[in-house]
Formats: sequence, C-alpha cells, structure tokens
Amino acid sequence: METFDSISKRKSVREYQAKPIAKNLLEKLVDAGRRAPTARAVEPWEFVVITDEEKLKKLGEIASTGSFIKSAGSCIAIFCKDTKYYLEDGSAATENVLLAAADLGLGACWVAGDKKPYTGEVSKLLSAPPELKLVSLISLGWPKEKSAQVKSRKLEDVIHWDKF
Ligand SMILES: Cc1cc2nc3c(=O)[nH]c(=O)nc-3n(C[C@H](O)[C@H](O)[C@H](O)COP(=O)(O)O)c2cc1C
Repeated sequence: METFDSISKRKSVREYQAKPIAKNLLEKLVDAGRRAPTARAVEPWEFVVITDEEKLKKLGEIASTGSFIKSAGSCIAIFCKDTKYYLEDGSAATENVLLAAADLGLGACWVAGDKKPYTGEVSKLLSAPPELKLVSLISLGWPKEKSAQVKSRKLEDVIHWDKF
C-alpha cells in the first residue's frame, strides 16, 4: 500500500476479531515506531508489546478511555525518557505505528497515556522503570468491520496560503 493510501485509510478502530496478530507483524509495527523523527536524535522511546490476555484485560480496566483494549489482539505501550520533547517524539512514534497498522490492514486506536490519571497504574502493571513516561497505548486487532475514515474538516477548511 502506498503511504497516501495508509494515511487516508487510517481511522480509529475499537472493535476487533478474536484473531491473534503474528509476532512478525508486531515487530514491524515497533520497527515503524522507532523510525519516527526525534528531536535532537535522542530516540527516547521504549515499546512494550502486550499480547497476554490477562494483561490486556487489566489494561482495559485501568485505562478508562480504552476499555476496548480488553478485546484487542495486542496493545503497544509507548514510554519515553523524560526529555524536553518526549511528548512530540512519543507522539510521532505513535502515529508511525498507527500508519503501519493501517498499511497491514490492522485496526488500531490511540489511547491517551500522557496526562491521564491512570499512567502510574499502567506503568506498575508493565513494570516500567519509574523515570519513563507513558505517552500512549495503541490498541490493535483485526477489524470486525471495514469502514471509511470520517473527517469533518475538509482540505479547503484548513488550508491557508501565505496568510490566514
Ligand atoms: C492524543 C490522542 C489521544 C487519544 N485518546 C483516545 C482515548 O483515550 N480513547 C479513544 O477511544 N480514542 C482516543 N483517541 C482517538 C481519537 O478519538 C480519534 O483519533 C478521533 O476521534 C478521530 O478519529 P479517527 O482517528 O478515526 O480519525 C486519541 C487520539 C489522540 C491523538
């Protein structure tokens, strides 16, 4: 699939088939994440790939805005060292993973990490070193249904040439 196809097909998918995701595909997703741009070339990220059903269930309980993680085939938690640009770097890596997932035909949804009250509990569940900050959780699975991306703001609503 071409890059622009992945970008235009990507959408948040929160319902998944009960079908596992092969390990090599999960590795591909992390590989896409680690290739993201990173301020000052720090590469502050760590990726925790969760496939254990019990852990996915617990994550879905802890992350109140990501309860659908319970029925996901996998979840990738992106942590970053507490650098000046950790949030930008972690977010860039998150988007890379989402686009790679779309490319592979996988459904995925960005679940908030940073700023959420449950970050500490997630870190504890995943035995994360205390100095690392949770940026995002990416819920993953083979989509139950295919549906199109919906965007309310069109190109002509958001584009400005030289000035507003
Ligand atoms: C920083 C960020 C945090 C998000 N957190 C959540 C979340 O906790 N739970 C959720 O269901 N979706 C979450 N989303 C997904 C958005 O709801 C979704 O991207 C938005 O509704 C647009 O839909 P689309 O992704 O299908 O284009 C998050 C997205 C971003 C960028």
